[in-house]
Amino acid sequence: MKPLLLAMPGNERMADALAAALKADRCPVTIRHFPDGESYVRIAGDVAGRETIIVCTLDRPDEKLVALCLLAGAARENGSSRVGLVAPYLAYMRQDRRFNDGEATSARHVARWLGAQFDWLVTVDPHLHRIRTLAELYGIPSQVVPAAGAIAEWISSNVRQPLLVGPDEESAQWVADVAGRIGAPHVVLTKTRRGDRDVSVSVPQIERWKGHTAVLVDDIVSTARTMVETVRGVRECGMAGPVCIAVHAIFAAGALGELQDAGAAQVVSADTVVHPTNAISLAAPLAIAIREMLEAGSGR
Ligand code: R5P
Repeated sequence: MKPLLLAMPGNERMADALAAALKADRCPVTIRHFPDGESYVRIAGDVAGRETIIVCTLDRPDEKLVALCLLAGAARENGSSRVGLVAPYLAYMRQDRRFNDGEATSARHVARWLGAQFDWLVTVDPHLHRIRTLAELYGIPSQVVPAAGAIAEWISSNVRQPLLVGPDEESAQWVADVAGRIGAPHVVLTKTRRGDRDVSVSVPQIERWKGHTAVLVDDIVSTARTMVETVRGVRECGMAGPVCIAVHAIFAAGALGELQDAGAAQVVSADTVVHPTNAISLAAPLAIAIREMLEAGSGR
């Protein structure tokens, strides 16, 4: 039997692309809220005995998690053989330890909730920092799809003489990977964050690359303070307005405008979170990872 793809609201386009790539069936769902705010979910099709894949990117996660868990529960109680989660953006990865007494290590709690509902997980470049692998967090099989290949292809086709710039040491992994794939130079800046919107960066010597086009790459753009300060730093070195690339275009209210006002020449993103800047499709590598998950499970 073909696998069945269910889309949480807002994920229909990605689910359609994945269904086409996987030659899987799509199945509609109803998700609505009762007057008191509780969630109602219903799968409008027969899941019995079938591999069920729920597509739900997890930006603005608090609005989605309850209905997502209920949908996984509905699949299970209606007989799905296994239930997998495709979350192109995986939320709650940054609070990966207790920075202050009394805090919750949110990454671990959310991983336990999702791990209890799903048999496997596929995501794109989760924010792994102090926790080094997804397997340290999630007790279910998981696959990470790197965005670097698709980003490198986009840069190759769209940017002349790129200089890859990572705004902080955490971005070094992505920037070095992308730069290596296209044979471009790269630099990594040092970032100091004092609060959600209070960020500064220091730019190393980049004058020797003045003729290049700076291409800033970060995994998440949320308030855009990191990108804004990096754009400023690069321009203060006498370089032209850079191209900014986000893997996960979270973009809090007003953030895109602030980035454009700071002098970004172009802002683009991968399509893990639906956003007007989406220009880099990750459906093909996601489908490959999902297929591997399905094949791994079929032998059990
Ligand atoms: C943090 O380490 C991440 O890699 C991003 O740099 C960060 O999440 C960006 O956040 P914001 O856009 O709010 O500066």
